Amino acid sequence: MTAQPVSNGTPEFAAPSNLPGHIGIIMDGNGRWATRSGLPRSVGHERGVDALRETVKAAQKLGLSYLTVYSFSTENWRRPMAEVTALFSLLRLFIKKDLKRLKSENVKISVFGTREGLPEDICDLLDLAERETAENSRFNLGIAFNYGGREEIARAARDVARKVADGEMTLDEIDQHAIARHLDTRAFPDPDVIIRTGQEHRLSNFLVWQAAYSELIFMDVLWPEFGEVHLRAALETFAARERRFGGLSSEAG
Ligand code: FPP
Repeated sequence: MTAQPVSNGTPEFAAPSNLPGHIGIIMDGNGRWATRSGLPRSVGHERGVDALRETVKAAQKLGLSYLTVYSFSTENWRRPMAEVTALFSLLRLFIKKDLKRLKSENVKISVFGTREGLPEDICDLLDLAERETAENSRFNLGIAFNYGGREEIARAARDVARKVADGEMTLDEIDQHAIARHLDTRAFPDPDVIIRTGQEHRLSNFLVWQAAYSELIFMDVLWPEFGEVHLRAALETFAARERRFGGLSSEAG
């Protein structure tokens, strides 16, 4: 670990020297946190948004460039409608309350997922968030909303097939790079690390294509309790991992 020099009057902090380029987070455990605290699940999600705010702040402070959070999955429609509605309301509130600040902090927002099935005003707000921050460049926040990795891949395949049918691409041009260029995340590097909170150990359809070589870090903390200290711990875990991308260890003879 190296301490970063203090250059602008902000407090000194320590971050590992090899930071991941892109972090994905599966923010799990809101419901359990609420139930354990004797509160309705919706309050767990509300606290989850607070944890998200703190995490974005910490990620910026620690010098990260890309963060993608799993906010609502294509499978979350299976939840009771009241909970789905509560999650939509939280997204509305988040964009209405935080967009101006994020814009002024030079954060670029990208939304991943399908707009199919979403209320029109939610689509408008997601468009607004992307449009208002399109010129920003200091920090990239990906919001996976109504997102499912398999749906994203199928949509990309459909777009590629359409181009072939229209004569814009040949069959031979379809390779993994061509598919990746048609994914929602095409402007983001693949995630170096995916963090999942809440004691579950799976990807749940999050960035399944992009996660081919991601380091997976599972943390017991429930999402509403996640903060800078947990992000730093994950960065340290990542820094200690050896990544080989199918090659050999540096220790191999
Ligand atoms: C998983 O916890 C979390 C979600 C399904 C939603 C995550 C959403 C937020 C953190 C807030 C929304 C953010 C925005 C920007 C709108 P869970 O409900 O599955 O928890 P459980 O496994 O304990 O039940």
